[in-house]
Amino acid sequence: MKEKTKIGFAFLLAAVILFVLNCKGKTETAEKSTEVKEQAKMSITKESFGKTPDGKQVDLYTLTNANGIRARISSYGAILVSLQLPDRQGKLADVALGFDTLDGYFTDHPYFGVTVGRYGNRIGGAKFTLNGVEYKLAANNGPNHLHGGIKGFDKVLWEAEQIQTSDEVGVKLTYMSKDGEEGYPGNLACVVTYTLNNDNELKINYEAITDKPTVVNLTNHTYWNLAGQGSGDILSHELMINADKYTVVDEGLIPTGENRSVKDSPMDFTEPMPIGSRIDQVPGGYDHNYVLNRTGTGLSLCARVYEPTSGRVLEIHTVEPGVQFYSGNFLDGTIKGKAGKVYNKHYGFCLETQHFPDSPNKPEFPSVVLEPGQKYQTVTVHRFYTK
Ligand code: GLA
Repeated sequence: MKEKTKIGFAFLLAAVILFVLNCKGKTETAEKSTEVKEQAKMSITKESFGKTPDGKQVDLYTLTNANGIRARISSYGAILVSLQLPDRQGKLADVALGFDTLDGYFTDHPYFGVTVGRYGNRIGGAKFTLNGVEYKLAANNGPNHLHGGIKGFDKVLWEAEQIQTSDEVGVKLTYMSKDGEEGYPGNLACVVTYTLNNDNELKINYEAITDKPTVVNLTNHTYWNLAGQGSGDILSHELMINADKYTVVDEGLIPTGENRSVKDSPMDFTEPMPIGSRIDQVPGGYDHNYVLNRTGTGLSLCARVYEPTSGRVLEIHTVEPGVQFYSGNFLDGTIKGKAGKVYNKHYGFCLETQHFPDSPNKPEFPSVVLEPGQKYQTVTVHRFYTK
């Protein structure tokens, strides 16, 4: 090779190497900047949702993640007002039933998206005895007490605070329930925190402390329709509940104390089944507490729901021992929800993670008693994806 050609070749080689290195650098920078952009894409905003009837300011918080999932939470009732989720084509839909405006939540609605407390679900005979003292509660469901009473945690204003870390965005809601409120003993300081992350998880964490022995069972009452709120019934959603047993109830939906196997019955969702496949064999539809199969005390799989047309999947993990599966049996078309949609029977389903109904009167059930000096803490994670 001539000297000139050699130099030319070496020059060309160096240029190629430099070019490749430069490209790599660019890709790395590009990756980095997407990362920064994605982080930046997680956001939280606050806007006015209106005022309570007695003139107090109510705010609506919007949590958005990098994948376009958007959760809206109201400081009134600590309510999940909406949840926008992509389908398998990326098309967004709001999968939670509810109202566009705050006024809707002041009406007599069936707990759309709300935080339920001080005691989620029913307490038989609207009373319980703790340390020898009988406490009388409102009988707001026939002779029984339901979802915390006349003015439960769903109908009070919570103090809200925004949260933003490198992993999640959220809103922390605080409420002080006074001693004697709705008949319950003890001042109960409660904190409910909603967080959303880029793994498409909406986490609800609950904490409470008391100054007198009391009972606590907090949950969320979202009505889901993974095809989109108001788009039809949920009977073709495929449901799996990780439970071999459920608590048998009387006609007032109070547990008899018997935990029965789901095997060979329409209650069996241990394998995925369309919600509607056997609903005709369940008088009134599903409104039952399932005893979750659990190992240990940490988060464990509770339920998975798949909606075949959109491909959306909701997976629930909880530390709670039970889940109330309610198939929207009392929706009857009288309520007009978001975007003017009418909510007919079975247009939404609820999976309320919880301690078992009537636990304050059932010593054999996991305890719901909270003592001064103890901390109530529970968490439920909703994970979303498509398939
Ligand atoms: C709960 C109950 C149902 C019904 C709904 C609200 O899920 O278990 O029986 O009261 O709330 O309508």
